[in-house]
Amino acid sequence: MYRTHTCGELRMDNVGQHLTLAGWVQKNRDLGGMTFIDLRDRYGITQLVFNMETNAALCEEARKCGREFVIRVRGSVAERSNKNPKLPTGDIEILVDEISILNASDVPPFTIEDKSDGGDDLRMKYRYLDLRRNPLQKNIRLRHKMAKAVRDYLDDNEFVEVETPVLIKSTPEGARDFIVPSRMNEGQFYALPQSPQVFKQLLMISGYDRYFQIVKCFRDEDLRADRQPEFTQIDCEMAFVEQEDILTTFEGLASSLFKSILDLDISTPFLRMSWDQAMTEYGNDKPDLRFGMKIKEMTELVKGKGFPVFDQSEYVGAIKAENSSTYSRKQLDKLTDYVRRPQIGSKGLVYLKMNEDGSMKSSVDKFYPDEELRKWAELFDAKPGDLLLVLAGDEKQCLPALSELRLEMGRQLGLMNNGEFFPLWVVDFPLLEWDDESKRYHAMHHPFTSPKPEDMELLKTDPGKVRANAYDLVINGVEIGGGSIRIHNDELQQKMFDSLGFTKEEAQEQFGFLMNAFKYGAPPHGGVAFGFDRWVALFAGEDSIRDVIAFPKNNSGRDVMIDSPASVSTDQLDELKLNLKP
Ligand code: AMO
Repeated sequence: MYRTHTCGELRMDNVGQHLTLAGWVQKNRDLGGMTFIDLRDRYGITQLVFNMETNAALCEEARKCGREFVIRVRGSVAERSNKNPKLPTGDIEILVDEISILNASDVPPFTIEDKSDGGDDLRMKYRYLDLRRNPLQKNIRLRHKMAKAVRDYLDDNEFVEVETPVLIKSTPEGARDFIVPSRMNEGQFYALPQSPQVFKQLLMISGYDRYFQIVKCFRDEDLRADRQPEFTQIDCEMAFVEQEDILTTFEGLASSLFKSILDLDISTPFLRMSWDQAMTEYGNDKPDLRFGMKIKEMTELVKGKGFPVFDQSEYVGAIKAENSSTYSRKQLDKLTDYVRRPQIGSKGLVYLKMNEDGSMKSSVDKFYPDEELRKWAELFDAKPGDLLLVLAGDEKQCLPALSELRLEMGRQLGLMNNGEFFPLWVVDFPLLEWDDESKRYHAMHHPFTSPKPEDMELLKTDPGKVRANAYDLVINGVEIGGGSIRIHNDELQQKMFDSLGFTKEEAQEQFGFLMNAFKYGAPPHGGVAFGFDRWVALFAGEDSIRDVIAFPKNNSGRDVMIDSPASVSTDQLDELKLNLKP
């Protein structure tokens, strides 16, 4: 028998018992007369004691056990004289009378501790060792618990989990496809699903009524902290529903996860905010509502006063940071550098300090006398101690820049507490978005999203103004999920493809099967998909989804542990009838 107990469960009640433990050597301390080993497994750490006086041979054997050796010991549980209140097992230790080394270990390339000394690359190369560390063990177990809670909630609500194929044909989620050559169909390729979108719609047509799947999706896009080339969705679809039915069902899922996983009572319904409002007040479509600091436009207020930058700008807007008028010259210069970074692209930053003594100080007071600056203060209801930060430029650049500045100020002022959650639905997204490069409209969500019936007429006259029955779930500035009510009629679907610039033939070739299916009694339907990795990272308090994925890819899309992607043999290429371009 390898073990009778785990390394995390022994307490004072077990004192006197003779038992067997197995695990990894976390630490080995040789104090001359005594040797102590911290033995670790998934469940915890237990201290083992070896006494030179009572059993020298055993002690010698224990001294051989380096970090990460796998051992089994037998011994008796004893009360510790020197208790460790930080460990759940800290009241006891094992007086060992037998030890077997089950497997030796090379010295690990980094420490297997909560805070490891290993850099990112090294830990990715030895991911199986990194995964032994507590923070990752915790995250992976949290992931499991969340997946189970999701399945329980959806099962209770009549959702059926259905697996859909992985070798498919291009899906239009807006990213590049990963493609797989087919040996049996020379010159042809499968695409890996960017999502199971069309299959879940087909399942509604097949009468499954409520579908879900916790499913891998694949997108060949540039990676960021919240993006992986393969990631997991909680993918869902419902028949005979309107937008509000979906929002209610899934804010139910969200609040049940908050309760069962974090023991937080988050009340429903969640706030619904229109896309327009999110863009004008927060500068992006995933507002972090843990703090206020709304953006306000001041274009009209500041124009015509002789300050060329504002006079020549399409848009001038600002945020108010409370209790920040003490920001120093140096801090303001740093903020200016921040908004001038190429990713943000502002030319400069104007400030107005509302000093505690009632006076005001602005970087542009040469152009704006006090009575003008008072108007700014009034617009923002600014009080002594507040700081206004003003940006100018094209609206398209300036609003996102103000959004970044707002988030940076939120960070600097400590307004983004990890333990606090503010979920909301962003609704009424535009159906289409203009792409300057290809000079045509693209579907903002995907081409199966239904326009709002009341905006249908605009489809011909002003397509950019048409709103969609589409929604995103946003929590703390993270887009956790998105979905829409679908088109369920082949004529409207064809119209949509027309608006997107597909020819009839192209639409038929790519999505003929779906439009055909619409001819056989498609029920009204809609759905949503949540980024499961993002959701777990949010609950775990991690900034990167890599920390909640067992075997993630690095920023170049590589798995450096298994060394993938890799070349294939000439034989494999020959079988596929593929030649590589030199
Ligand atoms: P969408 O493309 O918005 O919708 O994706 C849904 C959610 O998936 C997550 N997500 C990602 N997570 C990690 N890495 C990525 N590369 C990545 N891309 C997306 C996000 C996002 O909100 N079929 C539609 C859903 C529907 O209409 O029902 C879809 O896939 O959290």
